[in-house]
Amino acid sequence: MEVDSKLLNVGALLIATLVAAKIIAAFLIPRSRKRLPPVVKAFPVVGGLLRFLKGPIVMLRQEYPKLGSVFTLNLVNKNITFLIGPEVSAHFFKASETDLSQQEVYQFNVPTFGPGVVFDVDYSVRQEQFRFFTESLRVNKLKGYVDHMIFEAEEFFSKWGDSGEVDLKLELEHLIILTASRCLLGEEVRNKLFDDVSALFHDLDNGMLPISVIFPYLPIPAHRRRDQARKKLAEIFATIITSRKQSGKSENDMLQCFIDSKYKNGRPTSESEVTGLLIAALFAGQHTSSITSTWTGAYLLCNQKHMAAVVEEQKDLVKKHGDKVDHDILSEMNVLYRCIKEALRLHPPLIMLLRSSHSDFTVTTKEGEDYDIPKGHIVATSPAFANRLPHIFKDPDTYDPDRFGPEREEDKAAGAFSYISFGGGRHGCLGEPFAYLQIKAIWSHLLRNFELELVSPFPEIDWNAMVVGVKGKVMVRYKRKVLQ
Ligand code: HEM
Ligand SMILES: *[C@@H]1O[C@H](CO)[C@@H](O)[C@H](O)[C@H]1NC(C)=O
Repeated sequence: MEVDSKLLNVGALLIATLVAAKIIAAFLIPRSRKRLPPVVKAFPVVGGLLRFLKGPIVMLRQEYPKLGSVFTLNLVNKNITFLIGPEVSAHFFKASETDLSQQEVYQFNVPTFGPGVVFDVDYSVRQEQFRFFTESLRVNKLKGYVDHMIFEAEEFFSKWGDSGEVDLKLELEHLIILTASRCLLGEEVRNKLFDDVSALFHDLDNGMLPISVIFPYLPIPAHRRRDQARKKLAEIFATIITSRKQSGKSENDMLQCFIDSKYKNGRPTSESEVTGLLIAALFAGQHTSSITSTWTGAYLLCNQKHMAAVVEEQKDLVKKHGDKVDHDILSEMNVLYRCIKEALRLHPPLIMLLRSSHSDFTVTTKEGEDYDIPKGHIVATSPAFANRLPHIFKDPDTYDPDRFGPEREEDKAAGAFSYISFGGGRHGCLGEPFAYLQIKAIWSHLLRNFELELVSPFPEIDWNAMVVGVKGKVMVRYKRKVLQ
């Protein structure tokens, strides 16, 4: 029975192998399985997606107390793992692009920004383009931009009467577009093409809908108008760039910086790339800044104590420097800075930051629990939620700019990534100093020149917008101060 014994041997070997595999698996696989983060309860298949679409922050508010700082939501064909709070988000902010990338999750911007820039190119090119942003926002450039900001604010508010009532939200939106046009897009657009270019940007804006995040190329009228607007903008900027290059004139604006930028291999930027980078800058900086200036105003107008403090600070600066305002004087406005920062803590316009994960990683929660997050997950964190964690910020729903004062420093006490309105780490906002300068330029002008009073109720949050902002009007009664 030689055949039988051979069979028996083979069979025994097979069983031994299976047992060994089982034992090894018992050590390896279940360990990683066992340590998956808890999962949000939802109806099968589309339940998770529905909960996310109904309102991600509502979902986080319900789940965080139950599941803790790390948990997974099953979307239809993806898992999103949330990392909430500074204790668990270091990997989110610091990981290399090969581990956690932006390209996939922010791909929906490509038709808006256009080809050849930012999320349409490999990381190595994108990194160089981010270097162009960094260079265009250096202090020596910012000093020049501030002069434009001050000029625009003075001109804009000189058109207000001696007294009246305005929708502050609308006014600030308008002023910020004018300023951004001047500093970023340049004098040609600001002085000659403002209406055309604003209308085109409006079409780009309206072409970015929640549905565009999932289907950026869906053939709907909003997307068609977006694509036409992108084309026309490219033509307008091509003309401006050519004429600047021919005249040899050099201006102090972001457009000029991008025209003069060169890749490491010596190649200059193309006209189409310059256009795309400018669009990206405007998308990153315009709504975010205008929303933040409006919230800052709403809170100051409802908080006597802080209003008095910022007005006092302006008076001190006038005593010290006279009427002059420039980059360095704006940088002295620490009280105003904290008031803006606190409005932005309560209302970060970018409520959710996303990455796509390409390698397994482990996080340890503040309770000491270890979780393994498998590659393939989308990883998310939420400024809107994390900025109000009660173990980081005392009375987190209260407007209290003093929490950033030297004795408390609640944004730093629990370590980096406690305050994440501007993100942080590897992809932290490059425009933060620009944004603060612009908002301070506007509010220092308003505080010095007007008495203001909020006459509509304190505004609500417009959760439906892609860049989350202020809902409805913010009616303000103003009276020009009589200067002695
Ligand atoms: C209050 C105003 C602003 C807020 C709240 C804000 C917020 C943010 C946040 C949260 C990120 C990180 C996104 C992520 O990690 O996925 C970011 C990135 C960025 N922001 Fe801002 N931003 C503001 C103004 C600006 C302005 C004015 C500019 C340019 C003029 C700008 C340019 C950028 C750029 C280029 C990045 C990408 C950095 C990178 O990925 O390496 N931002 N911003
Ligand atoms: C998502 O995670 C669940 C476990 O929570 C897993 O069964 C499922 O296969 C994952 N889906 C994808 C698409 O990775």
